Amino acid sequence: MDKFVVHKSSLKGEFVVSGAKNASLPIMAATLLTDDECILHNIPDVSDVRTMVRILENLGKVVQWTPGTMRIRSRRLRNYVAPYRLVRTMRASFCVLGPLLAKRKKAKVSLPGGCVIGSRPVDLHLKGLSQLGAELIVENGYCVGSAAGLAGTHIFLGGHFGSSVLGTANVLMAATLAAGETLIEYSACEPEIVDLGVFLKKMGADITGEGTPLIRVNGKRQLHGAEHTVISDRIEAGTLIAASLATRSALTIKNIYPLHITSVLECARRMGAVLRLKRNSLSIKPPRRLHPVNITTLPFPGFPTDLQAQFMVALCLADGVSLITEKIFPDRFMHVAELQRMGARISRSGPYAIIEGTRSMYGAEVMASDLRASAALVIAGMVAHGDTEILRIYHLDRGYGRLEEKLKPLGAKIKREKQ
Ligand code: UD1
Repeated sequence: MDKFVVHKSSLKGEFVVSGAKNASLPIMAATLLTDDECILHNIPDVSDVRTMVRILENLGKVVQWTPGTMRIRSRRLRNYVAPYRLVRTMRASFCVLGPLLAKRKKAKVSLPGGCVIGSRPVDLHLKGLSQLGAELIVENGYCVGSAAGLAGTHIFLGGHFGSSVLGTANVLMAATLAAGETLIEYSACEPEIVDLGVFLKKMGADITGEGTPLIRVNGKRQLHGAEHTVISDRIEAGTLIAASLATRSALTIKNIYPLHITSVLECARRMGAVLRLKRNSLSIKPPRRLHPVNITTLPFPGFPTDLQAQFMVALCLADGVSLITEKIFPDRFMHVAELQRMGARISRSGPYAIIEGTRSMYGAEVMASDLRASAALVIAGMVAHGDTEILRIYHLDRGYGRLEEKLKPLGAKIKREKQ
């Protein structure tokens, strides 16, 4: 197991954003909808993608991955089981359920189990797939399903916390091979769902409305192979924006889609940053003193929950009091206690965190609890006086490809060591 040792750093230069993990995973799962070869570009080299490769190989796919390009073909031998040992490490594995039911007519996919950012049910996935005609039972920790023939219908996919990103992906993928028309109402509008829709359309699917809360799908008898370049990672881009603000470093961030991060850019502006956008590149110049702001996480196009922890670090250093309201995962505050150990002044009550800005933070030994919380601790380490040791950095590697190597040319002092 690795750990990071982070020293106070100021950053300068250009950072090129990688392909989006959260777009890559469902798109890789979508290749199960055809026996033809699919070619994917811009897939990031992160451990969650490697987990999805293992799941697909287990399901009878052959995956060839050279830097930049992934080719996915089918073997003759096909399986329909996604085992617990793989699914438990990554909840996104659950989105092989829809494609398996639609294409192979049966599926046995482990339920993902608990998650440190709070309860993460899959009831919406199961509801949508059942309404399409799949017969699903939960048995010994697995969702076991069969689908003689899926049929299009009108599905309301809203839940207690609004739409579900992977729930929408699962139902959308299954609907592409269901007979007749499917309407998915209260579908997630995230850019990763739009990208999945674009890929499915290249495979021959008939879809309209992706990116809106009402997706319409006309089912096809079969889909074919396709080639696709996944979008860039808006969360990695946002993480760099938070790092720029917290460390007061002027940066240029390349390979971004500004429309995917409007809420984040707006937040950076309210914190006092000067932003210059030029096509797919952003130059950010933070202010000397950061302004406090209130942030509420919401489904897209609202402020992403996946950037809440990283922006909290910047707000820890602002000139005043900020409030963060977490509306997607109300318990997603594991990083608060670690930041407090580094001198942050944060008090938490339910889904609210009140952050009182302080002039400085100091290094400590801290524990990464989940993917985005780890990124927040890396940023905190770069602003803290003294060394910060971040244990369990494997959480970070799930979603950021060798972040320390990407940040090194900018001046980040981060060492990867054996824990
Ligand atoms: C995806 C992202 C994750 C991000 C999250 C919210 C991927 C691989 N992961 O996760 O990084 O933090 O969106 O933007 O894309 N819910 C239910 N029932 C369900 C499903 C979800 O109640 O069946 C609830 C969840 O508990 C949560 C909310 O809906 O409160 C949103 O979750 P969801 O959009 O499903 O998150 P994921 O798709 O798992």
